[in-house]
Amino acid sequence: MSKPLEGIKIIDFTHVQAGPACTQLLAWFGADVIKVERPGSGDVTRNQLRDIPDADALYFTMLNSNKRSLTLDTKTQEGKEVLEKLVRESDVLVENFGPGALDRMGFSWERLNELNPKLIMASVKGFSDGHHYDDLKVYENVAQCAGGAASTTGFWDGPPTVSAAALGDSNTGMHLAIGILTAIIGRGQTGRGQKVAVSMQDSVINLCRVKLRDQQRLDRIGYLEEYPQYPHGEFSDVVPRGGNAGGGGQPGWVLKCKGWETDPNAYIYFTIQGHAWEPICRALGKPEWIEDPNYATPQARQPHIFDIFATIEAWLADKTKYEAVDILRKFDIPCAPVLSMKEIANDPSLRASGTIVEVPHKERGTYLTVGSPIKFSGLKPEITGSPLLGEHTDEILAELGYSKDQIANLHSSRSV
Ligand code: COA
Repeated sequence: MSKPLEGIKIIDFTHVQAGPACTQLLAWFGADVIKVERPGSGDVTRNQLRDIPDADALYFTMLNSNKRSLTLDTKTQEGKEVLEKLVRESDVLVENFGPGALDRMGFSWERLNELNPKLIMASVKGFSDGHHYDDLKVYENVAQCAGGAASTTGFWDGPPTVSAAALGDSNTGMHLAIGILTAIIGRGQTGRGQKVAVSMQDSVINLCRVKLRDQQRLDRIGYLEEYPQYPHGEFSDVVPRGGNAGGGGQPGWVLKCKGWETDPNAYIYFTIQGHAWEPICRALGKPEWIEDPNYATPQARQPHIFDIFATIEAWLADKTKYEAVDILRKFDIPCAPVLSMKEIANDPSLRASGTIVEVPHKERGTYLTVGSPIKFSGLKPEITGSPLLGEHTDEILAELGYSKDQIANLHSSRSV
């Protein structure tokens, strides 16, 4: 099966999560992704949160599959020359260094563009260029706080809360991948590369756009009808934290099922879709609610939505989350069990679809990772293990035209 990005060569100058998530995705779809790492140490995540001594940590292996690793000290003269050769032969350079690091290394956008006018340079930073915080170094939770996610996540009586989903990191990487693919298509039209920049703050804001919707609604009418604070609580002038409320026009909540007292995940998410009210009433054995004016419309239900949820919880009390979903699915009610990571790791459907995959690794044996969430009719991405530090250094140098002696010299000068 041919891979659509075959023939695209990417210099992967990324580390930690935001950049590596982007380049990993492109590698799955066929790009030749060359991860450039500092000799001796490499990407810091190789060593972070290790579960096996002396073997690359899962943090690294799960974000760097399907890549090749080249060690290169880009601060030595010889290292800079290797990078220049690579830039001349590549299609894309992706980086997520701290602000100004690439310029200090001597590889500003202007210089890269001069070396290879067809090259696309793709950057992740915490804040966008010209932002009053554009000098800051940023990690995941910093971005979630600056992007509106933390102030709107959690419960109203608790502090701002960050999400477990990597809204600042992997999400930014996905935005960058879209930018890179767009620039590749643009290059087909103009013959020239361009700089693609995505900030972590902007990417979080993009996913929080419904909260900006809510801010404007709140400014205009002073309340938000789908939040738990309505109609009995108070609204200030900022979007509050809404707990587990649904973010659209259909109320929903996380509800307890059988066993919740001992199992932290014995819950389902239950959604009350307006047009599904009748099947909900039938599923719950409450046919009298269908015509009752206190229940028949979303507006009528809202003042006592939590009493309705309590009634549903009473119905759920003798059902496991799986049993409950098996009943509710027959009534077309949007719902799902709250799944633990252990359940996800062992889910046969996720294994069959390739979303959870087991891949071999030279040091670790096999490990589980998340495969492509994007499914194609004409492509089945094959996920391979991540490279060891510098595993492909000699091979890549040879491809760049270095002789065996020159490669040996680069090793002895510690440039690679
Ligand atoms: N050879 C030589 N030097 C190298 C190198 C190589 N192969 N790779 C990196 N370096 C150098 C850089 O040039 C930089 O040197 P300088 O600061 O002396 O100019 C240095 O390593 C450190 O880079 P930096 O990216 O600033 O690392 P950090 O560990 O201090 O900061 C982050 C980490 C993630 C906070 C920072 O990179 C950042 O804010 N990135 C942008 C946002 C982002 O992607 N955040 C992470 C999301 S997961």
